Amino acid sequence: MCGIVGYVGKKDCTKVLLDSLKKLEYRGYDSAGVAVFENGEIKISKSKGRLAVLEQKLQKEGWINGTCGIGHTRWATHGEPSDINSHPHGSARVTIVHNGIIENYQKIKAFLIKKGYTFESETDTETVAKLLDYYYEGDPMAAIQKVLGEIEGSYALGMMFKDFPNRVYAVRKDSPLIVGVGEDEAFIASDVPAIIKYTRNYYLIDQDEIVVLDDGKAGIYDIHGMPVDKELMTADWDMEAAEKGGYPHFMLKEINDQPTAIKTTITPRINEGMPDLSECGMTLEKLSGYQNIFVVACGTAMHAGLVGKYVIEQLARVPVTVDVASEFRYRNPILSDKDLVIVVSQSGETADTLEALRLSKNVGADTLAIVNVKGSSIAREADMVLYTHAGPEISVASTKAYIVQIAVFYLIAFELAFAKGAISEEECRRLTGVLQSVPDLINVVLQQAEQCKYIASKLINAGNLLYIGRGLDYALSMEGSLKLKEISYIHSESYAAGELKHGTISLVTEGMPVIAVATQRELFDKTVSNVKEVKARGASVIFVTHSYKTIESDVAEYKIGLPTIDDILMPLPAVVPLQLIAYYTAVLKGNDVDKPRNLAKSVTVE
Ligand code: M6R
Repeated sequence: MCGIVGYVGKKDCTKVLLDSLKKLEYRGYDSAGVAVFENGEIKISKSKGRLAVLEQKLQKEGWINGTCGIGHTRWATHGEPSDINSHPHGSARVTIVHNGIIENYQKIKAFLIKKGYTFESETDTETVAKLLDYYYEGDPMAAIQKVLGEIEGSYALGMMFKDFPNRVYAVRKDSPLIVGVGEDEAFIASDVPAIIKYTRNYYLIDQDEIVVLDDGKAGIYDIHGMPVDKELMTADWDMEAAEKGGYPHFMLKEINDQPTAIKTTITPRINEGMPDLSECGMTLEKLSGYQNIFVVACGTAMHAGLVGKYVIEQLARVPVTVDVASEFRYRNPILSDKDLVIVVSQSGETADTLEALRLSKNVGADTLAIVNVKGSSIAREADMVLYTHAGPEISVASTKAYIVQIAVFYLIAFELAFAKGAISEEECRRLTGVLQSVPDLINVVLQQAEQCKYIASKLINAGNLLYIGRGLDYALSMEGSLKLKEISYIHSESYAAGELKHGTISLVTEGMPVIAVATQRELFDKTVSNVKEVKARGASVIFVTHSYKTIESDVAEYKIGLPTIDDILMPLPAVVPLQLIAYYTAVLKGNDVDKPRNLAKSVTVE
């Protein structure tokens, strides 16, 4: 979704803004723009397309020279991607950039039109700019306070007032905003990677706090204009973590980062061989008291929840319901104070997941967040938080964040099963030990990258694809299918293997690729039977299973062999070839792997 940045300091502001915006490209966008004070005037340059297009435009039409400004990458919501709809927007006196959605903009627009204002763009953002102008009588803070009282929806706003040439104002509600502070310079940004080149020190901005960057310093105020004391945060990772590190794409780097990410996530939560989640206040006693568990998330994070469900139910025998957050929040779920709601989110800012969390808290359920981004809204609002330590995930297609979410679910399942008396201490220790061995196994699976590439070369001309599996393998198939479609743009579906013959098998035609995942040995023969059914109808089958299993040519054309561990832990190594197949298919099709069309990394609107 949109990214906002702002700078006040001594450097070439246009360059700083472009550099910072480049670090937010992962969020997804279709146009970009900057506004910079030059000799007391606000100069704007904006255009549809990538940042490179904006940079060329600036070079051709004239660089804006100044030391104070704001910038934006837009992911279109109101109005198509175009030069006119790109941010910044404004009036003669006020210029703004915005991430979020103003829900009552039509009412405000109608009011402003009556007052004589005219509008250039179709955006909701322009109404905020014009409303600021309407209320502005020489005091920016007073105008901002009045506007905040009228707008509804979500926003992170960066604002400049013509009368104050060295100042940037900012405010947020339900859209992320941080403030970076360096020596004689200060920044606003939607996320930490935007500022890390310049400073590692930043503040997390809370709901409706107003930020003023002035003379290289940052002031933070509450809605009434009273100064607020904030804890200064320090990013615990450096530029390298947010760079490609020699890989052609972030996605490939992040797939290869997975062994380390798992290690970094689980090691601090294992105490003398036993899982220990007490850091977040989750004691054995508390855990064993829950009657039901709900897992609520979106997309890949929801798929991690599906693995969590199988694992918790199998080991701990506690019922788990997994919901898509956008459904959960409107289905009036039956929750009580005896239930635990686990929300899962890489970004910690996904609008539907955040609202699902708030709803769960309102009805009195305990909430636990599994989140990657430190200090994000979900992490701050949940009763308990377990951070995944994957480091920054830049590629829109989530890989390492997914695998560490699953790793955390294993720790929860082991501890819960032990707390409930469903497994012995010895078994809990043994499973924890096997989990610790997984990073090395994933390194072995990563060596099959070439084979995955070869299989990808057989998929690039497919119009449709099926992923099938049973039990945990079905949960994995869903993730494999999502990964492939989001970056290769090939349509694919995932199906419970036994469900195929109830309708979907009619889609199978000569040569249609079917990826069958069969790591659950108890279900292996049943999956083989389902595979034979599609094979008999002409499907071309890729079989993902244990290395030692022999697959006859009447079952599959290609096999990917996996190292063997307990079936319950097999999703960890088994997802890796699915990620690699999706990655290489997208690469071979010449797609923009890290920034697939129409998608945003952080989905801050519902
Ligand atoms: O930041 P979140 O984990 O809350 O994001 C949820 C989904 O938007 C995300 O997992 C999405 O499905 C990914 N693009 C999938 O690769």
